[in-house]
Amino acid sequence: MKQVEGEVKEKKSFPGGNFVLLRIEGDFPPSEPGQFAMISPSPSFDPFLRRPFGILHQEGNSLFFLIKVVGRGTRLLSEKKPGDKLSLIIPLGNGFTLKEGKVLLAGGGTGIVPLVYLASRLEDFTLLYGAKTRDEIFLNEFPWLRKRAREVIITTEDGSAGRKGLLTRHIPQEDFSCAYVSGPWPMMMEFARLYRGEAEFSLETIMGCGFGVCYGCAVRVRRGGQEKIVRACLEGPVFKKEEVIWTQG
Ligand SMILES: Cc1cc2nc3c(=O)[nH]c(=O)nc-3n(C[C@H](O)[C@H](O)[C@H](O)COP(=O)(O)OP(=O)(O)OC[C@H]3O[C@@H](n4cnc5c(N)ncnc54)[C@H](O)[C@@H]3O)c2cc1C
Ligand code: FES
Repeated sequence: MKQVEGEVKEKKSFPGGNFVLLRIEGDFPPSEPGQFAMISPSPSFDPFLRRPFGILHQEGNSLFFLIKVVGRGTRLLSEKKPGDKLSLIIPLGNGFTLKEGKVLLAGGGTGIVPLVYLASRLEDFTLLYGAKTRDEIFLNEFPWLRKRAREVIITTEDGSAGRKGLLTRHIPQEDFSCAYVSGPWPMMMEFARLYRGEAEFSLETIMGCGFGVCYGCAVRVRRGGQEKIVRACLEGPVFKKEEVIWTQG
């Protein structure tokens, strides 16, 4: 884990203004798929806390992020321009466990972020990618992903692209050695209820520090037959299906 000052090199905005893709250059240490960065939205202390973002990709000295505007911090980040400096702490968290064989990647909304990075390390995967509408599907930004996937299943809640309905209504009925799941809590909870095989889930909790100090990211898990409180930023954000206690959130 290292604090690094990066520079925004590229920014792409999308219709509606709620999503931006950022390419940030800096002397970043290497990361693994599923790990995340804490990014300071502003050089001042307002807002005071950094915000957590999954790593979309890391290549050379560039890091890529896909950010959805939901509040003040993400709004400030969406307004960054090439040349602006940003302070990042990276890499944080545990990341996914790579499994042999055919796997399923299931991403809802910005939950696609860590799965894009994971896909770059996989040989054989099916991608299940869901969003509210076609404007929130960013597959065209990653043409290699469609080419390399065994199958891509798009779902939108309004039916404007791919299959209509929630992602969890379209889980492929095949055997996978593992499913990697990331997205809103209700989606992951329903996925865990329906999916019988081995799976890992990347949890998005509220985070304060991102490196184990504040306990702002506490989640309840089941380990060794006992319930425990753990910090999602340290012991997660990726957890095995059998560990997560789905009633929270
Ligand atoms: C490990 C991890 C990876 C993430 N990766 C991404 C990513 O790749 N792209 C992306 O756009 N977002 C990602 N997020 C969510 C992102 O961190 C929050 O959206 C952001 O911190 C909100 O900051 P804000 O100042 O804009 O909103 P705030 O003003 O702080 O909050 C606005 C609203 O968003 C809710 N919110 C804030 N933080 C979170 C959170 N962590 N999870 C769920 N709801 C939250 C608040 O409860 C409030 O309702 C990730 C979160 C985690 C923990
Ligand atoms: S965010 Fe502070 S302990 Fe996890």
